[in-house]
Amino acid sequence: MRTLYCGDLRSEHIDKTVTLYGWVDRRRDHGGVVFLDLRDRKGVVQIVSDPERTPDSYPAAEQVRNEYVVKVEGRVSQRPEASLNPKLPTGEIEIYADRIEILNAVRKQMPFQVSTAEEEPVREDLRLKYRYLDLRRERMSRNLQLRHAVIKAIRRFLEDQEDFIEVETPILTRSTPEGARDYILPSRVNPGEWYALPQSPQLFKQLLMVSGFDRYYQIARCFRDEDLRADRQPEFTQLDMEMSFMGQDEIIDLNERLVCHIFKSVKNIDLPRPFPRLTYAEAMDRYGSDKPDTRYALELVDVSDILKDSGFKVFSGAIADGGQVKVLPIPGGNDAISNVRIKPGGDLFKVAAEAGAKGLAYVRVRDSGEIDTIGAIKDNLSAEQKQELLSRTGAQPGHLLLFGAGPTLTVNATLDRLRQTIAQELDLIDQAALNLLWVTDFPMFEWNADEQRLEALHHPFTAPHPDDVADLKTARAVAYDLVFNGYEIGGGSLRIYQPEIQSQVFEAIGLSEAEAQDKFGFLLEAFEYGTPPHGGIAYGLDRLVMLLAGEQSIRDAIAFPKTQQARCLLTQAPSPVDNQQLKELSVISTHKPKAAE
Ligand code: AMO
Repeated sequence: MRTLYCGDLRSEHIDKTVTLYGWVDRRRDHGGVVFLDLRDRKGVVQIVSDPERTPDSYPAAEQVRNEYVVKVEGRVSQRPEASLNPKLPTGEIEIYADRIEILNAVRKQMPFQVSTAEEEPVREDLRLKYRYLDLRRERMSRNLQLRHAVIKAIRRFLEDQEDFIEVETPILTRSTPEGARDYILPSRVNPGEWYALPQSPQLFKQLLMVSGFDRYYQIARCFRDEDLRADRQPEFTQLDMEMSFMGQDEIIDLNERLVCHIFKSVKNIDLPRPFPRLTYAEAMDRYGSDKPDTRYALELVDVSDILKDSGFKVFSGAIADGGQVKVLPIPGGNDAISNVRIKPGGDLFKVAAEAGAKGLAYVRVRDSGEIDTIGAIKDNLSAEQKQELLSRTGAQPGHLLLFGAGPTLTVNATLDRLRQTIAQELDLIDQAALNLLWVTDFPMFEWNADEQRLEALHHPFTAPHPDDVADLKTARAVAYDLVFNGYEIGGGSLRIYQPEIQSQVFEAIGLSEAEAQDKFGFLLEAFEYGTPPHGGIAYGLDRLVMLLAGEQSIRDAIAFPKTQQARCLLTQAPSPVDNQQLKELSVISTHKPKAAE
């Protein structure tokens, strides 16, 4: 039996005889004496085999190679002064191996080195193809153990301190209203009919409130067929929660305590409470984003009123068309950012264009404090307008002012992207900061220009703000997101539990009574049988773990993730199935494989 994990050995174990199991991380032969770094999921420890002191283990020590699986029995010893390794938690000790048993060898060329000592960058496609080897490496092993610690902390808090119960909800179900495309599965026994995989447990958790499980949670797998990014997977995990008889402030308070408990448990960090709150309107106004990264300033300034009569048509025209002109003031931007980068063809121009901007106007504040107008703006700003721009934006000598002009959505999207890019480039981000904040008061609806109709921003069960029910079209919702260093890590809302308000919301989004019945009839019926006021939230668990692990990609927080093309490189999923299987499912594929070249 194993006595201890390799990584748990310390000087307090000196003189103990131990049995260890693990993989050979590295083997070094120092003039007859063989050193093995033995690795398991807790870390690495040095094993010594010396033909004179430990002759029985020596033949095996000579034979083993990197990544062999071995069992080692030996005595824990103090390392000699010269070989102490303060970088390694086990660096004060080593094990003199009385016995080394080779349990299995490596029979193929390793696709990459696993060893932490040789942590070389490995291409991600290779890491994903041989994920089981990648998970042996220190970084991924640490991340998965962190993920486990986060889930454990969540369960301890919710179950032991707050009386929540976990309930599993179905994976084979009907479409859930989160707004992404569904993954669907044909039913063999009901030909022509399909299950949808849940985009979230939203409907079921609300039903559980009707059932009286007033504090529900679930570590829930969700499926969304949407464009993938570094922080999005087609299959991801939520911490999903729903509570009855609680208002927004109570839900926020409970969730702040939960988040603080997680940070304390896994990072020993005491987060200050309460977390700051911004309304959606404020967040959009100051940062151009509903998930602002507040680790750095660079706030946007609305200058529409100053420039509405400007001779520069890009500005005055945008405002006349109901849009806005906003400025991103960049201290020190004069020296740091050249004209070439802002003009068409430049990298910053490209960032703006990708966000939808048609152009990128700018001015510079010279050492004299004078505004230096450039390009098309030249001669189109009055002395008064320049002065007002300076005082409104707080611009000082050396400032560069970038302008967004156009429809509000585009202006915000553009300046948000520029703000993030520039903060990164100018190293303005306080990497040690942990900025958690709530964004509240989201609008109920957004305009879907393609379909020319309003659409629920969250989902159609989100409760309108009680002050705004008179005009639902412009109403705020009682909806809140939790933002962590510029990432949306969670979102939720209070729900509608009165049928009259629900009907009004369906009407606002153009869902007829019949359509509503068809899609959500079972839920609406359930609401007729005594529904408590309720609300909830769901966290993107993978995102939270990614951020706690200091990773840039959600894939590094998931054991077996998919690529940006939604593929599993390890199992080669998705893959074709044979026609017989499709036939059984009453499905015909319209896909025409490309002719072989
Ligand atoms: P929402 O759609 O905002 O809310 O999702 C909640 C959180 O889940 C994470 N998330 C994702 N993570 C990885 N990959 C994805 N594709 C992905 N999509 C979302 C985000 C997000 O904040 N039912 C509601 C919750 C509620 O109202 O209670 C819901 O699912 O971090």
